[in-house]
Amino acid sequence: MSKSIQILNGPNLNMLGTREPEIYGSQTLADIEALCRQHAAPLGLEIDFRQSNSEGELVDWIQAAHQQFAAIILNAGAYTHTSIAILDALKACGVPVIEVHLSNIFQREGYRHQSYVSEAAKGVICGFGAQGYLLALDAAAEL
Ligand code: DQA
Repeated sequence: MSKSIQILNGPNLNMLGTREPEIYGSQTLADIEALCRQHAAPLGLEIDFRQSNSEGELVDWIQAAHQQFAAIILNAGAYTHTSIAILDALKACGVPVIEVHLSNIFQREGYRHQSYVSEAAKGVICGFGAQGYLLALDAAAEL
């Protein structure tokens, strides 16, 4: 049976492609989803790929991940730096979490250096652009 991985994307990641391309690159979120699907298949992983601008919807999806997914790959966008609600949901759901950021958040503004998600994450991948999602899938396959 193939393992199922949930890939969650937070606010403004639906704007990739046109959003600050000098920071986030020119690939759209649909491009990244396609890359993830290509990469996941030979690893024997199925993926459920979603995006929401709403903190509550992300919390609902994380809660529902319990017993459904082998891992969550999460790019929580700006909620990374603000959301105790997402942190609490991650801790409660009992599913291993791999945190991903396209940009290297530690090279950027001070307010991006703090991540609530990291407290619940098995590991963090940042600064590798879209490839970070593929590295996270490799990590998920090994979990
Ligand atoms: C981001 C980094 C966050 O600081 C920012 O708010 C985002 C994207 C990234 O993928 O680099 O929306 O998570």
